[in-house]
Amino acid sequence: MRRALGGLLLAGVLGGCSVDFQGWAGMKDQPKGLPFRENAFFADGRTMREPPPDTVPRSRRGVSRRFLTGREAPDAGYVEELPLALTRELVEGGQGSYDIYCAACHGVLGDGVSPVARNMGLREPPSLVDLPEYEDGYVYAVISEGYGLMPGYAEKLTPTQRWAVVAYMRALRESQRARLEDVPAEARARLLQEGVP
Ligand code: HEC
Repeated sequence: MRRALGGLLLAGVLGGCSVDFQGWAGMKDQPKGLPFRENAFFADGRTMREPPPDTVPRSRRGVSRRFLTGREAPDAGYVEELPLALTRELVEGGQGSYDIYCAACHGVLGDGVSPVARNMGLREPPSLVDLPEYEDGYVYAVISEGYGLMPGYAEKLTPTQRWAVVAYMRALRESQRARLEDVPAEARARLLQEGVP
């Protein structure tokens, strides 16, 4: 009796399973529009629809093209200077992102010295503190779109975070070329007391 009951229960469970499974297969194979497939329902024969003219993505409302691309216009030059206020908070945020996403290759100091750099056979990540004087928008575009063997970071960093990395790179660069005379007088005395490396 017990065994019979067990068998009945098992059959019930398996039966349930197979019904479920068929249901899923049915859903999977039903007629539906996939993004890049043809679609006879629409006049243009495509499944993907065009957004109505002048549609503005909500995430980009109020943000200019130069802020998003680092370029003055599609075929024009790069934005010369950071298009947002340079604050300590911005630079520190940039340092956070730099240390996570860039330092592994370009080195914590930006000098191109890192275990990854030593082992990258095809092309070593260059020192970022010795690059020629680029516009801020150029560096922003490299971070967004990538450069040669380097991947872009648009999916990992928001536009503001990318500009923050640009700001931090400037700070890194300055930190390694600053002379004692560049330091404000009051801080200079402190540095001399503590000893300048
Ligand atoms: C996987 C390693 C790697 C990571 C991570 C990486 N880079 Fe690079 N980067 C490279 C390499 C390699 C090059 C040189 C590419 C080439 O010449 O093909 C390069 C080139 C550059 C250049 C020079 C462009 C020029 O005109 O010479 C800049 C600026 C730069 N990277 C910034 C960054 C920043 C900022 C980050 C972080 C958001 C970053 N990189 C993350 C490997 C990396």
